[in-house]
Amino acid sequence: MTDRYAVFGHPIAHSKSPLIHAAFARQTGQDMTYEAILAPKDGFADSVAQFVAAGGRGANVTVPFKEQAFALANRLSPRAERAGAVNTLTFDGGGIRGDNTDGAGLMADLTRNLHCALAGKRILLLGAGGAARGVIEPLLEQAPAALVIANRTISRAQELAGLFGRGVAACGFDGLDAPFDLIINATAASLAGELPPLSPRVFAAGALAYDMMYGRDTPFLGFARAHGAATADGLGMLVEQAAEAFYLWRGVRPDTAPVIANLRQDRLEGESLAAPPLRGLRT
Ligand code: ATR
Repeated sequence: MTDRYAVFGHPIAHSKSPLIHAAFARQTGQDMTYEAILAPKDGFADSVAQFVAAGGRGANVTVPFKEQAFALANRLSPRAERAGAVNTLTFDGGGIRGDNTDGAGLMADLTRNLHCALAGKRILLLGAGGAARGVIEPLLEQAPAALVIANRTISRAQELAGLFGRGVAACGFDGLDAPFDLIINATAASLAGELPPLSPRVFAAGALAYDMMYGRDTPFLGFARAHGAATADGLGMLVEQAAEAFYLWRGVRPDTAPVIANLRQDRLEGESLAAPPLRGLRT
């Protein structure tokens, strides 16, 4: 029987995950479907339960349900535990397993796709929400010279840094003018078309500015480019976190490069693996 997977979010219509997983499945010859499910904001757990009852094998979880997925899982991977959020669920005889592949996705994009070595580098992480929290541990594992979290609300940055202990510093945007080699925008500012109030001095010579948002050029990337930094959006991270989830479910690692290239040129449109809509679920 064809195995069934899905991504849950609200909103979800914009999600590229069905296209990405369809491309992975074709490439690796996996017999599976992958659909987008719009869970009601107050009905995430019910939607997941219906999907499991209908034979769902696994799911990705996106905004705003990653913390609820964390609470729903009855077994958590260590990296999900540290991230405090779950983006990948696996349904098996033992219940619901929760994992978080976002950090691994960012690391794969930075190190393999963008050839950005992080050991000994100075890293500035903008934002102190769930998106930032999920990538701190994997960034620290790369042994950077410094990791600084800057956030509009300083107390949130301090609280987050406190969870990870030594090696992570916290500050606000004011007075932040030391140079960094890698500046990652994990704030929600780009979603609103806004620019975090950054000094241009944060961009060291040869710096890379990375925006976790994808799909459009953001004010942050424009600002970074204007001050001499190389730039990358989050499309590679999106595909890499999906590849890591695919590996957890199927035990096969897809080749991400052609999928990233095709997505950039919109060549994956219309190729998703359509599954019949589940009764009672808005997909
Ligand atoms: P997510 O889970 O996507 O990280 P979140 O928990 O709501 O979402 O966090 C959003 C992050 O973006 C926060 O760090 C927020 O800063 P505050 O903690 O001060 O609210 C940051 N953010 C949102 N809009 C921003 C803006 N226009 N400029 C700078 N930071 C912004």
